[in-house]
Amino acid sequence: MMVTKKWKVDKFVDNLKSYPQIREAASLLKANEVVAFPTETVYGLGGNALSDEAIKKIYEAKGRPSDNPLIVHVSSVKQLDDLCSGLNEQAEELIKAFWPGPLTLILPSTGHVSEKVTAGLSTVAIRMPEDPIAKAVIEASGLPIAAPSANLSGRPSPTTAAHVLRDLDGRVAGVIDGGETGVGVESTVVDCTSKPITILRPGGITKEQLEAVIGEVGEDPALTGQDKAPKSPGMKYRHYAPAAPVYIVHGGMERIKEVLQQANNENKKTGVLTTDENKDGYPEADFVVACGRRSVPESVAHHLYQALREFDDTDVEIIFSESFPNEGIGAAIMNRLTKAAGGREL
Ligand code: TXA
Ligand code: MG
Repeated sequence: MMVTKKWKVDKFVDNLKSYPQIREAASLLKANEVVAFPTETVYGLGGNALSDEAIKKIYEAKGRPSDNPLIVHVSSVKQLDDLCSGLNEQAEELIKAFWPGPLTLILPSTGHVSEKVTAGLSTVAIRMPEDPIAKAVIEASGLPIAAPSANLSGRPSPTTAAHVLRDLDGRVAGVIDGGETGVGVESTVVDCTSKPITILRPGGITKEQLEAVIGEVGEDPALTGQDKAPKSPGMKYRHYAPAAPVYIVHGGMERIKEVLQQANNENKKTGVLTTDENKDGYPEADFVVACGRRSVPESVAHHLYQALREFDDTDVEIIFSESFPNEGIGAAIMNRLTKAAGGREL
């Protein structure tokens, strides 16, 4: 165990990168320590992408399998020169349209980052975050920063500093508290080395948004239910999961009430993951957690991980989740819910 430094930073102040808290976090990163900070998607656990030592600390702190590569975060497009060995025209268009923002590009690697970042692949995942604190820390460090979500491996990703501390206090050098993250689910990961460009993980930028800029975009067959090994190594694990088993229920409130009844007959403590609109409709459940408004799917994405974590503060034994339309940001919501459910559907 180590003592984890905690800093509170207001992301709206001017000239963040000269703030003492940001400078202290940056000097820890330069010393190959690992530090958690907010991004616009979820909190990340950052480390120097060029250092084997730093990357080893990331994997250890998270308990993450080392065949699951990390995303490298940059604060300027210029940093790409050293990290990737060629951008095609479509990748350039995506960068212009969506950076800084929740889009990660898989690009051919120059091999300069630590082998542990790419887990031995010939490609590297890169994104430029939009959150002012993330930008300032990366810029102040002068380094490319590898940053997976700042949770213990398998747990829901953190959207507040309190979530990070719950998982990683005593395991990392520092945590910057910059308040709640905005998007709430991770970045969209697209493979720019395939033709057409392919979505490996749905996220903050939707397929529809990508197609408006570059035309046809493919999807990893593993995402559309075809039982193939996913191309993004991280997508094969059960993930984002509360301790109790989660079931995604199709067929609306009526069907959920049926399965609740069955679980009650078996004397199980039940939980329901629902939305503001429906939250009063399950009096037979022991715990009801609403994650945002069904009519505003962005608000569901924003609250999803917090909601999944809330069940861990209860003694529920089984969780039933409503399902969501698989379009727009709904694709990311359903992808994370399916992982949390380990594929269990009713
Ligand atoms: O929003 C985000 O992307 C957050 C914040 C902190 O930036 N980060 C994040 O990182 O979600 P992580 O490590 O939890 O997820 C990285 C994903 C994994 O699914 C991993 O397999 C995939 O990106 N990935 C990384 N490098 C890859 C590569 N070279 N080829 C294919 N997939 C890759
Ligand atoms: Mg993660």
